[in-house]
Amino acid sequence: MEIVIRPNAEEVATTAADILEGYVRDGATLGLATGSTPTPTYRELIRRHREEGLSFAECRAFLLDEYIGLPREHEQSYYATIRREFTSHIDIDDSAVRSPDGTHPDPEAACRDYEELLVSEGGVDIQILGVGANGHIAFNEPGNSFDSLTHVQDLHPRTVADNARFFEREEDVPRRALTQGLGTIMRARHLLVLATGEAKAEAVEAIVRGEVSEQWPGSIIQRHDKVDVIVDRAAAARL
Ligand code: F6R
Repeated sequence: MEIVIRPNAEEVATTAADILEGYVRDGATLGLATGSTPTPTYRELIRRHREEGLSFAECRAFLLDEYIGLPREHEQSYYATIRREFTSHIDIDDSAVRSPDGTHPDPEAACRDYEELLVSEGGVDIQILGVGANGHIAFNEPGNSFDSLTHVQDLHPRTVADNARFFEREEDVPRRALTQGLGTIMRARHLLVLATGEAKAEAVEAIVRGEVSEQWPGSIIQRHDKVDVIVDRAAAARL
């Protein structure tokens, strides 16, 4: 595992974009996370697309997760969020950006479909991951099995509270999501873990230096053979 500590979130984004750029040039399949952490990285990739001609035309992308009950048009669906913040600003084909179907009448079937799609499309070459303050990756909350595949997940109260900032009221935050499982994420060929800000310091310490335990789902990254963890000084405060 490579751990890179950068002075601030902007520098984290530059380092992450440097790694991603090589994959983009090869027309790779990108695993995209939503949330605040990767936003500066997406901005930097958009800049490289506009100013340096970096093309995503040969790339495909898979989202990690989606809220249950939010239609794709809902501005807080992860599908809409990733389009707004990233993919509508680059030259990737819309149809090449895939996400779990949060409005499927049978959520379990939606999970199976997504898992099958990931496998049939050849899997993810590089997976961007943010980290929850409780150590979750994607929406795999503490206690999730390391072998889990795409599944329906009840969100931890802390995750609901953390994500309330994107909604008018905390009651509006969906309580359930579809998420790639830890086993799904571990099949990605390269993990790019990003964390910024002091609120992530405890989780970063736990997943990078702590015991590998389902109580800190992100600690599973210690078992992957190709991982880059890129953090700013604040998130690295306990390393
Ligand atoms: C998002 C996701 C989540 C976030 C995590 C951190 O697709 O899967 O695991 O990466 O909750 O969120 P932020 O970056 O908003 O702190």
